[in-house]
Amino acid sequence: MKKYKIAVLKGDGIGPEIVSEATKVLSKTAEEFGFDVEYQQALIGGAAIDETGCPLPQETIDICKGADSVLLGAVGGYKWDTLPGAERPEVGLLAIRKALGLYANLRPAVIFEPLKSASPLKEEIIGESLDIMVVRELTGGIYFGERGTNEEDGIISAYDTERYSVPEIERIAKTAFEMARKRNKKLCSVDKANVLDSSRLWRKTVERIAKDYPEVELSHMYVDNCAMQLVRNPSQFDVIVTSNMFGDILSDEASMISGSIGMLASASLNESGSGLYEPIHGSAPDIAGQNSANPLATILSVAMMLRYSLGEPKAAERIEKAVVTALKQARTADIATKETNIKKVTCSEMGDLVTSLI
Ligand code: IPM
Ligand code: MG
Repeated sequence: MKKYKIAVLKGDGIGPEIVSEATKVLSKTAEEFGFDVEYQQALIGGAAIDETGCPLPQETIDICKGADSVLLGAVGGYKWDTLPGAERPEVGLLAIRKALGLYANLRPAVIFEPLKSASPLKEEIIGESLDIMVVRELTGGIYFGERGTNEEDGIISAYDTERYSVPEIERIAKTAFEMARKRNKKLCSVDKANVLDSSRLWRKTVERIAKDYPEVELSHMYVDNCAMQLVRNPSQFDVIVTSNMFGDILSDEASMISGSIGMLASASLNESGSGLYEPIHGSAPDIAGQNSANPLATILSVAMMLRYSLGEPKAAERIEKAVVTALKQARTADIATKETNIKKVTCSEMGDLVTSLI
């Protein structure tokens, strides 16, 4: 029997709750599709700080490198909010992305049919359906550029730098063009080329790579315009490719269009195709430990893992179908509805429901 080694990084806040539900679903899916999964737990974020003093212990990196894939919950919480920047739980997340070379972050924003009314956008704006793939560069740009804090003549200043090299832009552009080729063949590259040099290089490089993908229609958009177009006419987009920080912002916006940030999964891939899978939402410390979080984004992240890293597309589809069916029967608090035939459920009840539908 095929066996996949999965590194499990539950993290902080609601992380442990949602990841438990996702592994429950994965184990059942494995049983149904005739493969085996072996889980290896490792520490990251605040949990790792408390236990080892460091947000990403070397042992965690080793476990992730030795695994076929990584499943992550979320990091961060009030408890660690006062730590200096370089010691915060978030540093663990950035460091694992860097350590595993996860430069391509895929963030699909889709509307699930049963949740159409949960979108804050009017139905006539959403149109028939919504299916956008945000491809975010994840290991470069301002997140990893030169930074510092100085004091001169009694005035404190701080800076961060946005820097992109041609090879960094080329490889994320290729990922995005490949993605667009498999989808509706439209790629929108988002930058701020009217102001930033790094964006002008981004645009020029994307244009050059476009020559290898004549079947994909490429457009460019400034990030401020894109933020507006996403709520004005979201269905104009198929694949969006953008830098680390613009992608961080636009993917939150795109996700909200789908009704709840609690629904959206993500994949972060490296050159070897192995990856890290996590919900795009955060650790939600305000509801941690209450068994009320929505585990569906993490469950859908497991589906992405099966598709993009483990080569089990049928198993991925089974999970996605089970999620849609579950939404017709039950909802967690974030996506609750007044419809009386739909039950309000806890995080673990939702996990059990999806598992039973596999
Ligand atoms: C995300 C998060 C992270 C990021 C934070 C927690 C460091 O917002 O994955 O989108 O900014 O990348
Ligand atoms: Mg974010």
